[in-house]
Formats: sequence, structure tokens, C-alpha cells
Amino acid sequence: MEIIIGSDHGGYRLKEEIAEYLKTKGHSVFNAGTYSTDSCDYPVIAKEVARRVLATANSKGILVCGTGIGVSIAANKIKGIRAAHCTDTYTARMTMQHNNSNILCLGERVTGSGLALDIVDAWLNAKFEGGRHQRRIDMIEEN
Ligand code: RB5
Repeated sequence: MEIIIGSDHGGYRLKEEIAEYLKTKGHSVFNAGTYSTDSCDYPVIAKEVARRVLATANSKGILVCGTGIGVSIAANKIKGIRAAHCTDTYTARMTMQHNNSNILCLGERVTGSGLALDIVDAWLNAKFEGGRHQRRIDMIEEN
């Protein structure tokens, strides 16, 4: 699986740490930026990651900003994206099992890196359960 990862300046350090962690786990990682702690606009990166996730087979995305909220709001504007902002392993696991989330959002100023890496593991190791949950996901896309 390819993991497409991105952040703004507020999530830069945690994003880099997660990228290195994922590589040690054998994942292919595409780093969509930002590439420094210089101030930048999170919607740009969030939408770039979202579009790449939709365009790349067998991929998931991870977005980091200061709180995790801005990137999740922005990514969820892209049709087909189900971005989940998580601060614990339970919701990370459940959002994969029930929502088939395709982007995980984290907040560097909220969640320490040890917990953040556990959240990443919980999310990536969980499996979508399908069935009634697929029907509900289909309903999300209806106008
Ligand atoms: C940047 O200061 C901060 O606003 C951003 O990282 C994020 O937390 C927005 O939701």
C-alpha cells in the first residue's frame, strides 16, 4: 500500500516522523509536503493529498496540522474522501472498520508522537467490515 502524507507547518515535525516510521514498516510513502516549518496554508496540502489518494490505487492518506481539524475539514470537501480526525486508537480502528476512512488526520499540537504512531498502526491494521457499513458510506455520497 502507498501512503500519501502531508502537513502544514503546524504538523511538519510529526508528519516527518510518521513518514520515517512508515518506511521502517515497509510502506511506500509519498511526501506531498510541506517541507519545512515555514508558514503555509493547510487547505492546499490537504486537497493535494486528497486528490492523490483518489488517483492512486491501493493508497491511503495521512494529514497533519496543528489540531488535525483544519486538514480534515479541507480534505472532506473532496468528493470520495472520508477523512477521519483521530486522537485515540479506538476511533482510529473504528473509522477504518465502519467508515472505510481513506485519510487519517492528526494534530501535532494535540497528540504526542508516541500515541500518534500507535494511532497510525491501529488505523492501518484495521480492516473495513463492508456490509451495512458500505450501504451507509454509499449514502454519504448521495446528494
Ligand atoms: C496553523 O497555525 C494552524 O492553524 C493549523 O496547523 C491547523 O491547526 C488548522 O486547523
